[in-house]
Amino acid sequence: MPKKWSTKLIHSDAKVPDGFRSLSTPVYRGSTVLFPDAASVGDEWDQYEVGYTYGLYGTPTVLELAARVCELEHGYRTLLTPGGQCAISFINFALLKAGDHIVVPHSIYTPNRLFARRVLQKFGVDVTFYDPNLGTGIATQFQPNTRLVWTESPGSITMEVQDIPGICEAAHRAGALVVLDNTWSAGVLFDAFAHGVDLTMQALTKYVGGHSDLLLGSITARDKEMFERLGSTQQLIGTAVSPDDASLALRGMKTMAVRLRAIGAAALDLAQWLAKRPEVELVLHPALPSCPGHEFWRRDFSGAAGVFSIVFREEFSKEKVLRFVNDLELFEIGYSWAGVTSLAVAYDFHGNKNRPDYGHRIVRLNIGLEDVEDLREDLERALEGMSG
Ligand SMILES: Cc1ncc(COP(=O)(O)O)c(C=O)c1O
Repeated sequence: MPKKWSTKLIHSDAKVPDGFRSLSTPVYRGSTVLFPDAASVGDEWDQYEVGYTYGLYGTPTVLELAARVCELEHGYRTLLTPGGQCAISFINFALLKAGDHIVVPHSIYTPNRLFARRVLQKFGVDVTFYDPNLGTGIATQFQPNTRLVWTESPGSITMEVQDIPGICEAAHRAGALVVLDNTWSAGVLFDAFAHGVDLTMQALTKYVGGHSDLLLGSITARDKEMFERLGSTQQLIGTAVSPDDASLALRGMKTMAVRLRAIGAAALDLAQWLAKRPEVELVLHPALPSCPGHEFWRRDFSGAAGVFSIVFREEFSKEKVLRFVNDLELFEIGYSWAGVTSLAVAYDFHGNKNRPDYGHRIVRLNIGLEDVEDLREDLERALEGMSG
């Protein structure tokens, strides 16, 4: 039909050549998805079953990232969220109801612990926090209504590697599901489903994104039933993921193998060197025997990432520990990790009776892609400054 120019702005007949082939995934943006006819309209969430219905459930850019994460983690299917913490709250909302009980390790990422305490308890879900080193002994924490066991291995900051197969066995015997925060392993250094886990989540913000410029999360289900419980909840919670961020993550993912290899090797080298320094009491790196649960890392993991912590000797005051962090030049100070820039953050566990007795003496390091000799020199200079 003939069209006025203002209509052509919306319904254009302009043409571009077909057949463009490139190596990158196009950024498909879209909320509205077109249906072929009036009878096919329907708001079904499972795009794998019914085709595309609404941008909320993922444009092809978002679904490609989800499928690639799933492929690496050997799951059934993956759902993306706008950040790692969102993946955590989403899992809890999807799987729990009032009257349920869950167990959460003391070493879990702090907002995960706070969500359990501040939100789940408000909704009538009972929470027990457990020692991450319990292994199969976790069964002592279970109740008849225990539905979910949270794990994170290694744990945040204190780096305890958990006996995931042992925990899964105990949980499954009690009829509970096990969910793992698999962020440190980037979904590739620990094969969660082969070790019995039911559900994983990752902050793709970290190694998959890899450049400190996006926030995304993933939830990977081991089977169809679990995926359906999650997908139908996404429709109701309405967590949409930006295709632009998904595109950045797809680009980041292509270099993840070389980044992880370089970062992992540099981190282990520096961890071993730090273990010999007189200022350092303990290096909490999963590949070193000084790390709690090192034997489980050796048994279950295929490599080590670039985040670990050091604990200074007793004589170092909080001021001296903070001075060490401030004196570093190449290590920047900031949250999040797994980008190309090395980072250092000091923590203070005074008053936290559930964490190891490291007080103000613990510093977490994220190793980036700078030259390892420059990083060593930077650390050495800052360590020497502590003795003044
Ligand atoms: C282990 C772990 N899980 C989850 C998250 C949350 O991820 P995001 O920052 O994408 O919300 C973080 C972030 O620091 C983390 O370290």
